[in-house]
Amino acid sequence: MRIEKCPEWKSLDELSAGVPSLSDAFILDSSRVQRFTKSVGDLVVDLSKNLIDDRIIASLLALAETAGVDADLRRQLSGEAVNVTEGRAVGHMALRMPRDGHFVIGGHDVVPDVHAVLDRMREFTAAVHEGRHVGATGRRITSVVNIGIGGSDLGPAMAYEALRPFRGSGIECRFVSNVDPADLASVLADVNPETTLFVVASKTFTTLETLANARAARDWVVTSLGPDSVAAHFVALSTNADAVAAFGIDLANMFPFWEWVGGRYSVPSAIGLSLMLAIGTRNFDRFLAGMHAVDQHALVSLPSDNVPLLMAMVGVWYRNFLGAPTKAVLPYSNDLRRFPAYLQQLDMESNGKSVRIDGTPVGTATGPVIWGEPGTNSQHAFFQLIHQGTELIPVDFIGFAATLDGIVAEHQHDLLFTNLLAQAQALAFGRPLSAVTATSHREHRVFAGNRPSTVIVAPALTPEVLGNLIALYEHIVHYQGVVWGINSYDQWGVELGKELAGRLAPLVTDRSPGEADLDSSTRGLLEWFRLNRGARDARGEG
Ligand code: F6P
Repeated sequence: MRIEKCPEWKSLDELSAGVPSLSDAFILDSSRVQRFTKSVGDLVVDLSKNLIDDRIIASLLALAETAGVDADLRRQLSGEAVNVTEGRAVGHMALRMPRDGHFVIGGHDVVPDVHAVLDRMREFTAAVHEGRHVGATGRRITSVVNIGIGGSDLGPAMAYEALRPFRGSGIECRFVSNVDPADLASVLADVNPETTLFVVASKTFTTLETLANARAARDWVVTSLGPDSVAAHFVALSTNADAVAAFGIDLANMFPFWEWVGGRYSVPSAIGLSLMLAIGTRNFDRFLAGMHAVDQHALVSLPSDNVPLLMAMVGVWYRNFLGAPTKAVLPYSNDLRRFPAYLQQLDMESNGKSVRIDGTPVGTATGPVIWGEPGTNSQHAFFQLIHQGTELIPVDFIGFAATLDGIVAEHQHDLLFTNLLAQAQALAFGRPLSAVTATSHREHRVFAGNRPSTVIVAPALTPEVLGNLIALYEHIVHYQGVVWGINSYDQWGVELGKELAGRLAPLVTDRSPGEADLDSSTRGLLEWFRLNRGARDARGEG
């Protein structure tokens, strides 16, 4: 039965007509906070300021059961090809299993393979740190440039920023993703070819942006250090050995992963090499352990204690029953500033779908638009709309008890955290007209309140906690995808644009008779580009 036809959907629809206000809920129910606060790994998650009550949660969990969320997770764990449109298993949970774990895909336990690659990454990291792997001129590697895009960039780039206090290796990482030459040029201006290692990260090793940047980087290295320097200065992270070899990277310098690792789920795989080089092997292990802890939690918890399931279903509540088109994720941590961008790919590439697994159109809204920026900066940018705009925007706040920047930073960190608390409080409880003390423009100073948020807190932003956060959101995305009946593990929606760009590429330099078939807007813009293209000097006057 389609999910929107089941009785649980109907009862949620009915419940949505009479959601209790947060102010009333807090006054009438003294145990609300205890009941709606749960923990997972090192995270404590306060769901109490959501527009929920016990009946709503019970109905949402009943809906999840009808959709078969738990059975689906177990099918994933059994190595079944649950990514049906690509005929692939979904094995990212294997990437963070301990050595004695088992994850069988196609009759083969992949956990030993995972650890064999991790061991090679550890050995390579030690060789770089100890100066056994050096540049072509014998100088130590001090800069790592990760070249990749999408999942081959966002995960390691986000985690590198997030784990800033754990970067004790003396290696600075830079991340180049955009085919815009400005991205690579700005990085090359800052690094020395003799001391730089390029990590070319691409699952397929066919991605246009990554190959264009990698070729340009290789030319830059070869120009300064000669053709024999590539082996010392380039490594590849990929599933495609043939393409890596064709590019000219020795397979001894390739760290493999597998087709059952989706790009946006790949940070715990070889794709995490630049992160491991920066934070060291022990911290990388802590990061993996943090993810594994959440996987275990999802597998063993009762539904009513399963934090990713609760968060997923609260998300379904807002998306499908209260009509929220977006969700904001607001880390009160500057080091987590790339986390919303990371989540955008994780969530929107996974659940931005309008066709169900069986090929029929969905009958419900699916993944929301995910957006966000760190607090407190975002308070001075778009919070106005969250507080007083016309859309319901559920918010996830993420905050930490302690700063890792030492005692002098403590006072500022306290200010940061109190801002998180104040924002969640203002959203939930607002300020009625009767409480406005100003004498003019009083209605402009009213805060309606009743705007929901989830507050996720942890002791500090450690590698384990970052692992917890990533796996938490991965499971949320998975559960929601199951409820909506879509395949969260393909991304056909990115293909057409790539295909068309490939067809248009020759036309930016040369007219072609085939151009007559193009729509007139594209044709006109191509013509404009051909007339105006070319390099200019730095002031654009050349
Ligand atoms: O274009 C989408 C996508 O396929 C993502 O899913 C992926 O993370 C990214 O491109 C990069 O792909 P690759 O790692 O194969 O270069």
